[in-house]
Amino acid sequence: MAKKPIGIFDSGVGGLTVFKEIRNRFPNENIVYFGDTARVPYGPKSLNTVIEYSIQNARFLMQQDAKIIVIACNTSSASALPTLQKLLPVPVLGVIEPGAKAALKASKSKRIGVIGTEGTIRSQAYRKAIKTLDRTSLVFSKACPLFVPLAEEGWEEHDVTQLTIAEYLAPLVQNNIDTLVLGCTHYPILKVPIKQFTGDKIKLVDSAHAVTDKLVEILPNKAKSGIGQNRFYVSDNENKFNKIASKILNIEITTLIKVKLGEGWFLN
Ligand code: DGL
Repeated sequence: MAKKPIGIFDSGVGGLTVFKEIRNRFPNENIVYFGDTARVPYGPKSLNTVIEYSIQNARFLMQQDAKIIVIACNTSSASALPTLQKLLPVPVLGVIEPGAKAALKASKSKRIGVIGTEGTIRSQAYRKAIKTLDRTSLVFSKACPLFVPLAEEGWEEHDVTQLTIAEYLAPLVQNNIDTLVLGCTHYPILKVPIKQFTGDKIKLVDSAHAVTDKLVEILPNKAKSGIGQNRFYVSDNENKFNKIASKILNIEITTLIKVKLGEGWFLN
């Protein structure tokens, strides 16, 4: 990888929904992706733990010579964005603010639903970001912790997933929302069954598109095609990651390396 890569991290496979969008829009860029599969899920973990993991992930990407870091994880973005921006010598992008902007753009009634992990919803990061941009908007939030393991299992067509979606989303939909933010990068993996439940009247917003638009502002891109290289790293279960990733990305993953955690740093 002669050219410095874009670094992307998530707790697992969820950030691949962001990777996919960035890869499409930046065909000639090299990309390094890190999925912290040994420690997924981040959603139920404490703020300090998520900050600590996020610092380690970002440092690992810096070791890979990343020229920019995209936090493809809402839970990390909600907890660790200011810390990483202070700590790192390269630009760091989170998914919350771009997602909030995209939600307001999509919504007519300004009644917006937000779903995410326990950590993201507890932080109220989306509510604050949306309200800062438009004080009159109404935000209805719901943590959907079971969506992450369902997505990690690749169970988007399973009955259990449909039941879980109905259980979480029924009370939210009753608030007459016209827009629903998929405030976790794992959730677009379940977009089809979520859409089946919410119907056509509710627009789904996922932060992958929004954060990629933001990236285009920082890293102007003129290339329509190219041969940028992909390198994937995980902290555990590379076979499982490979299986789900190949399905999400529709490509064969050739470079997938498992790395081991060290004290504050990753060691090969
Ligand atoms: N994909 C992540 C997010 O966007 C985290 C899911 C998790 O690890 O709980 O929040």
